[in-house]
Amino acid sequence: MDKLIINGGKRLGGEISVHGSKNAVLPIMAASLLIKGETVLHNVPNLSDVSASIDILEYLGAKVKREGGNLIINAAEIINNDIPESMMLEMRSSIIFLGSLLARCRQAYMCRPGGCDIGIRPIDLHLEALSALGAMVEERGSCISCIARELRGARLVLSFPSVGATENAIIAATLAKGKTTIINAAREPEICDLADFLNSCGARITGAGEGVIEIDGVDMLHPTQHGIIPDRVLAATYMSAAALNSNELVIKNIIPSHLAPVIPVYMKMGCRLYLNDDELKLVAPKRIKHIKHIKTLPYPGFPTDCQALAAAVLIKARGTSVISEGVFENRFNYAAELNRLGADISVYGRTAIIYGVKRLCGAKLRCTDLRGGAAMVIAALAAEGESTVTQLNHIDRGYEAIEESLASVGADIKRINDEKKECKKKEI
Ligand code: UD1
Repeated sequence: MDKLIINGGKRLGGEISVHGSKNAVLPIMAASLLIKGETVLHNVPNLSDVSASIDILEYLGAKVKREGGNLIINAAEIINNDIPESMMLEMRSSIIFLGSLLARCRQAYMCRPGGCDIGIRPIDLHLEALSALGAMVEERGSCISCIARELRGARLVLSFPSVGATENAIIAATLAKGKTTIINAAREPEICDLADFLNSCGARITGAGEGVIEIDGVDMLHPTQHGIIPDRVLAATYMSAAALNSNELVIKNIIPSHLAPVIPVYMKMGCRLYLNDDELKLVAPKRIKHIKHIKTLPYPGFPTDCQALAAAVLIKARGTSVISEGVFENRFNYAAELNRLGADISVYGRTAIIYGVKRLCGAKLRCTDLRGGAAMVIAALAAEGESTVTQLNHIDRGYEAIEESLASVGADIKRINDEKKECKKKEI
């Protein structure tokens, strides 16, 4: 098993670049099933979730080629309409194949998806949306079957602006007969990227990024090329690393408007931010200021994915901060690990109280989930002495070689493989 060894206390500085968005590329890869031809995606990050999606596409019969940051998917022929359980359990986003398989094959069989353990994560809104579009949905245990002789446009009202349910609905409605209206749709930038991708193939989607999305169904889509938007959560990860560990850091390849919900929070922490077209410079304060209250909400609220990343900074703030989680039920598992570094976080249900401390000390940490794991890395960079971070499978789902990018701006961080070390010992 891989682990990260971090020697904290080094100042970060220089320039760091943001790769393509995980949460944008995954639904777009699922949507590529709708095109009976080639899809070329640019700015595709090399993540384990992307590999898991490639495995699903290949199982379904698509031909997939990776060339650096480009991904070429040819879904001219689809040979399966089911997804094996082992593939579904790899990540949450596998559920988006439900809408795309249904639209392409009129039948889809799969089990409930896996993903980070941050709450109950039901899929009722996904299934309600597909059934409103004409699918016959059956659940037996964790197995789901979805069959539709024909998909028909409908008026969908989401009781919560779920990102995944909005994506499934958009994808299935793209090839449905007639007009679909999604009310209380998710407004995240990744929804806009999905709509832009589908529109570039001939879909007719308007309103993405707003609460009401309209889709005029079309008979077929044509091949296209599309560049994936930069990963706003990765940008926030670097902002947190810089706020806690640098004098100043330039973060390149961003879309500043996508960071609008997080920028004011870092300014309240005392950071100075200088924004350009596609980059920002963060100048960190001598000591971070506390924040009275952050509440995570659907976009354009403060993103739940950035909650742990903000907490990693606030643990060293002057004063006490409060974070309430408004999206998932159980997203503070990382807090106990940060406390091992000397942080002082108390969790009461969906609220964390963070008492700022002056010093952190290196410790052995285990990633609990993707963003919690990234928060541990950031905090360990600010801890005196050596820390180790294990269970990197969580981090690798969303960060492309996190140790290399952080080392390139001065962090003392390296990845080692325990098994290899063990083998070497035995050889000697
Ligand atoms: C996506 C993101 C994830 C992010 C989340 C919220 C991807 C791959 N993942 O996850 O990183 O944290 O949006 O911004 O894009 N819900 C239901 N029923 C449903 C679906 C969701 O009750 O059918 C609830 C969930 O339990 C949760 C809330 O809605 O409490 C938000 O979930 P949702 O927006 O669907 O998140 P994901 O699409 O899973």
